[in-house]
Amino acid sequence: MNRIVVSCLSLLMATTMQAQQTPVYLDESKPIEQRIDDALSRMTLDEKIAVIHAQSKFSSPGVKRLGFPDLWTDDGPHGVRPDVLWDEWVQAGQTNDSCVAFPALTCLAATWNPSMARLYGESLGEEALYRGKSVMLGPGVNIYRTPLGGRNFEYMGEDPWLASRMVVPYIKGLQSKGVAACVKHYALNNDEEYRHQVNVIISDRALHEIYLPAFKAAVQEAEAWSIMGAYNLYQNQHNCHNNTMLNKILKQDWGFDGVVISDWGGCHDTDEAVKNGLDLEFGTWTDGLTMGKTNAYDSYFLAEAYKQGIKEGKYTTKELDEKVRRLLRLFFRTTMNRHKPFGFLCSDSHYEAALKIAQEGIVLLKNEKIKELKNEKGAAPLLPINLEKTKRILVVGENAIKMMTVGGGSSSLKVQREILPLDGINVQCSKFRSALPLGSSKNVQCDYARGYVGDTVQSYNGVTVGRSLYDTRSKEELINEAVEKAKKADVVIFVGGLNKSDYQDCEGHDRKDYALPYAQNEVIEALVKVNPRLVYVNISGNGAELPWLEKVPAVVQGWFIGSEAGEAIASVLFGDVNPSGKLPFTWYASLNQCGAHALNTYPGTWREDHKIIDEEYKEGVFVGYRWTDRLKVKGEKGKKVKNAAPLFAFGHGLSYTTFKLGKMTADKTSMTEGDEITFTIPVTNTGSMAGAETVQLYISDLKASVERPVKELKAFQKVFLQPGETRQVSLTIDKRALSFYDEANSQWKAEPGDFEALAGTASDKIVSRCSFVLK
Ligand code: BGC
Repeated sequence: MNRIVVSCLSLLMATTMQAQQTPVYLDESKPIEQRIDDALSRMTLDEKIAVIHAQSKFSSPGVKRLGFPDLWTDDGPHGVRPDVLWDEWVQAGQTNDSCVAFPALTCLAATWNPSMARLYGESLGEEALYRGKSVMLGPGVNIYRTPLGGRNFEYMGEDPWLASRMVVPYIKGLQSKGVAACVKHYALNNDEEYRHQVNVIISDRALHEIYLPAFKAAVQEAEAWSIMGAYNLYQNQHNCHNNTMLNKILKQDWGFDGVVISDWGGCHDTDEAVKNGLDLEFGTWTDGLTMGKTNAYDSYFLAEAYKQGIKEGKYTTKELDEKVRRLLRLFFRTTMNRHKPFGFLCSDSHYEAALKIAQEGIVLLKNEKIKELKNEKGAAPLLPINLEKTKRILVVGENAIKMMTVGGGSSSLKVQREILPLDGINVQCSKFRSALPLGSSKNVQCDYARGYVGDTVQSYNGVTVGRSLYDTRSKEELINEAVEKAKKADVVIFVGGLNKSDYQDCEGHDRKDYALPYAQNEVIEALVKVNPRLVYVNISGNGAELPWLEKVPAVVQGWFIGSEAGEAIASVLFGDVNPSGKLPFTWYASLNQCGAHALNTYPGTWREDHKIIDEEYKEGVFVGYRWTDRLKVKGEKGKKVKNAAPLFAFGHGLSYTTFKLGKMTADKTSMTEGDEITFTIPVTNTGSMAGAETVQLYISDLKASVERPVKELKAFQKVFLQPGETRQVSLTIDKRALSFYDEANSQWKAEPGDFEALAGTASDKIVSRCSFVLK
């Protein structure tokens, strides 16, 4: 008996002693803020200075003495970038850093399906965990202001509501794995050409209504753990240490408790970096891409210079402690989180996720009926291609054989595999052939012609994948070959568009013009003359001029869709998958349909010293469809504008089946500021194939004290329907959907009066309306 008491007592004493020995900052039963305070109180000045700036290209130190590991970041946002050497941009040559490339974020946005964004974030988080990365540099949510923007492919389109709904689940999915999102590039980094010199001049209204909502949702709804300051300036101050952007809006107004990380080389001044909200400095003295000073970490703005300033009494440790607190919070959320799951790389589930997202994001832009193609109902559309009736397929175009996961800047990847479009199409054909019964008269052959030579490089920043695309034939020879082969084909699939080379969809520059590059237009014109059964598959993250559009019956937007690109594209072309993507931006017919260009505000005006270029966003809130809608209603400078309709409107996307939207009803006809209002609309799949339609709800403020867009997207839902199936889609909004940013009072305001809800399947296909009143 005594022995039992003695053992219990010693066990109790041992446990108590152990508890006493566990410092508060390591005690998981204690609230995180208490653990932060405790850790902070134990840190020396040197340790504090160390954690707020980089020690290598992509890492910053933890606190070794206290057991905090180093913090590893990595790009982002489409897969986990391969490792570079400690202090150089050169590849480290690892053998375990080949990843799955997920579709570019424009494609993710085009799914209009938040559950795809969640899947994306979770899958990416698992890959990051395996690679030992605690911060993924992404997602990007800068608004698609001009189709010349070199990094639009990394972002989520032109609409703040769509981008907000898609970014939140991405971040939640990623962070559910214990990996921090670093939302970028905060803010107004809408073009690339002069990204280090642009000073954006913008109204408060446009800033808050268009350019900030996705960041705000990332911070307030998804609770992002870090954010990246943008290179450019706002109010003459760089965004990486911008008092209004960081201290006022982000930290004070939105209550952001995470870490502000500078874009690589975006920090320029110790004093501003200390005082204006930057927490962690990365990439200083580099261009963020290929160049940089060697081992310059001590001369970072938040390193020795800051320490010296503190020692000399120029700064107290108030700001430093605030920064370190945020870093410690990030450590506890990531590197010090002992409950995070294990990661895995290149798993079947990640490939499946990449494929699914790609298939849902591909947009069928056009699919006209062709007289000579008949089915039981008469003339039939060219897509999906019916292999039963097809003997010869010709694929033309460089993008059918070019890897798109390499190139484009910091989002470039080293993939375990990338299925090219030509390979995906070939696989479909051979699957069909091998399923034919012996002796069948059916057969399908797939041939290829290059058509044009664009960019033959298949490597980027030391990652070489794929074979060389070097071809010495002349333009005429290439066109002739394609034309001769096209004459004999039942269907021609042209795979073209942009690529990830400089001045295309690529970081560091914008596109020089809106045309398709290389000889593509000539090739397409020549092909369609000899064979009108032409499908154009466009690979890009941007719109482009399509001067031959009238003559080409089928157009598919294929984005940059990562590892499973070829399979995803082929599955749509041959009808294994019914396309359901919708454009996340307006596809202008020409540049002057875009507000920024129509008003000649891009790229801005250089100051006399040629150091800063001022870019005034004169179009204000009228970005994308908000601008083209306004043109239709108001014209330009009072004059009616001819051809104001874009090639393809925001939200546009077709299907192989047909849908009918019935009459929309509302649960009330008037609401107060505290109310919600629900609109319900029946959607029926009236065709013969299962498919998905996205119901889009736009709100129109019929009379306001400021000029408001004709309509604005405020809710949407994608529904999957079997043939003949009907579903009631209900969409609820509250006063936020009715509000504009009132500049006089610096707050959102919903003005009482008449509103209209418009439901449709694209911004230019509104099928039902409901009036209501805000009291
Ligand atoms: C880019 C960032 C990127 C960083 C690190 C910069 O050039 O603007 O988006 O995360 O480099 O690679």
